[in-house]
Amino acid sequence: MRLSGKVTIVTGAASGIGEATAVRFGKEGARVVVCDVNAAGIDAVVGEITAAGGEAVGYVVNVTDKAQIAAMVAGVKAQWGRIDVLVNNAGIVADAQLSKMTDEQFDRVIDINLKGVYNCAKAVVDIMTEQGSGVILNASSVVGLYGNFGQTNYAAAKFGVIGFTKTWAKELGKKGIRSNAVCPGFVATPILQQMPEKVIQAMEERVPMRRLAQPEEIAAVYLFLASDDASYINGAVLSVDGGLVI
Ligand code: NAI
Repeated sequence: MRLSGKVTIVTGAASGIGEATAVRFGKEGARVVVCDVNAAGIDAVVGEITAAGGEAVGYVVNVTDKAQIAAMVAGVKAQWGRIDVLVNNAGIVADAQLSKMTDEQFDRVIDINLKGVYNCAKAVVDIMTEQGSGVILNASSVVGLYGNFGQTNYAAAKFGVIGFTKTWAKELGKKGIRSNAVCPGFVATPILQQMPEKVIQAMEERVPMRRLAQPEEIAAVYLFLASDDASYINGAVLSVDGGLVI
């Protein structure tokens, strides 16, 4: 088991990539904090992890709410005494071309996808510093490297997340904390349900592998980066996109 005894927080863990990551971490011996806004989804994922013999606890946390994050971090510290890994995975889309994007759409995506990452990292950094070890993994995207039609807000957030990652790698490396970002291409999760079938087909055709990723294929990368196998990987921005952009 590659994460034996590690205390790991996964945000947005009730669905998609976060769910697959939480479940995989549980199978690899981690103590998993399943954090999301979706209470029913949290219960289902905690149930799945514990049914497979793993350890998990759920917290209803909106990553825009610092008080909820602080309460979760305090609860985890009280229960398990430490925090080894934070996967900043929670994210949404609210797409529109620039001329049609509302301020509300812009602010909502920035608040969750960018400031939410900052809020959660800030809430654990002192604990990781005190431990002299920790891993922060941030969900960026292929869109965080190249931009995308209709995603002014999402691209800004995902580019920003890469900026966080490189900054934290420089600031926190000497404290034993590694920070890395993952840039998935197109992954078959509920987030894509908002896109027309035609657009999804067009996406598949653009990928040399001619298919979307499965969430488990991204979870496997988070597992590697969270594990001691990645002990010298810091500040990396890892594309997991089937060769979409070469
Ligand atoms: P998803 O929609 O399946 O899951 C996202 C989860 O985040 C949901 O459970 C949702 O309830 C939760 N969430 C939303 N707002 C939240 C908030 N304010 N606080 C806490 N939890 C919140 O999405 P998916 O596809 O699994 O995406 C996960 C991450 O991966 C996101 O950051 C997304 O931007 C990124 N990503 C996804 C890609 C894809 O093609 N699916 C591609 C590249 C990146």
